[in-house]
Amino acid sequence: GKALAVTGSASGIGAATVDYLRAHGAYVIGLDIRPSDNADEHIAIDLSSRKSIDEAVARLPEKIDGLANVAGLAPTVPAAQVIRVNLVGTMALTNALLPRLTYGSGIVNLSSIAAFHWQQSIDQIKEALDLSFGKIDAFVEKHRIDDQPGRSYFLTKEALLAWCIRQRRTWVDRGIRMNCVSPAAVSTPLLDAFAGVMGERTKKDSDIVERSGAPADIAPVIAFLLSGASAWIRGANIPADGGVAAHYLAQEN
Ligand code: NAI
Repeated sequence: GKALAVTGSASGIGAATVDYLRAHGAYVIGLDIRPSDNADEHIAIDLSSRKSIDEAVARLPEKIDGLANVAGLAPTVPAAQVIRVNLVGTMALTNALLPRLTYGSGIVNLSSIAAFHWQQSIDQIKEALDLSFGKIDAFVEKHRIDDQPGRSYFLTKEALLAWCIRQRRTWVDRGIRMNCVSPAAVSTPLLDAFAGVMGERTKKDSDIVERSGAPADIAPVIAFLLSGASAWIRGANIPADGGVAAHYLAQEN
């Protein structure tokens, strides 16, 4: 089977993705700051730390057949930490693993319905994509990201979509593709934390659908984008949201 790496493997969507991939014959390496025993192998990683990322990468196999970037933080922590984990650490891990990805590998990032409205300025998104760990605090201060609740989260999820679009053909000759999956509300600890700071927004999205999503609704979509069945899908975003994105599109047109 394929060797696949999944971040955020200890909880929610990441844990469900590990289960799904293993049930379909993959060897799964879980990467999370929290311990977990659901994967074939667990490697501790703190995505907010360059050093920890490098240490984890050193422990990963020489060849990997795909990477799912599922780990993420709700905006209940300072903006700088949200940006470290959801964006800069995720990009750093991906870049460090790129040389090890085999032909046909998929890279999948978890964006969100939170990115649907593209609320941040394109210049800020571009600046965010160029951030390194050392520049995050100054970026947060300069744009006052912490002044609006939830803004750090929206920014990181929009930036992941933009990153995906930017990389649409970067690794064509290596057969590597990057895509995004965008869920709406999925019942996990992150959703509870998110609803605590963004209650109205969460309720608005949730009222559109007949039920909230379950992690098992998202895992097969991630697995599809890691598989050869999605070979001609590049730089794309697949909503897995019970129709929430379509609802907003219908309203806007
Ligand atoms: P969760 O809270 O259940 O799991 C997130 C995982 O990330 C946890 O296992 C946590 O330990 C890990 N993590 C946190 N900080 C870390 C760090 N510094 N280093 C390494 N790992 C770290 O969350 P959930 O809901 O499963 O979210 C997974 C992804 O899906 C996130 O990127 C989230 O933004 C995205 N998403 C979730 C939605 C939801 O409603 N639950 C909706 C849209 C997107």
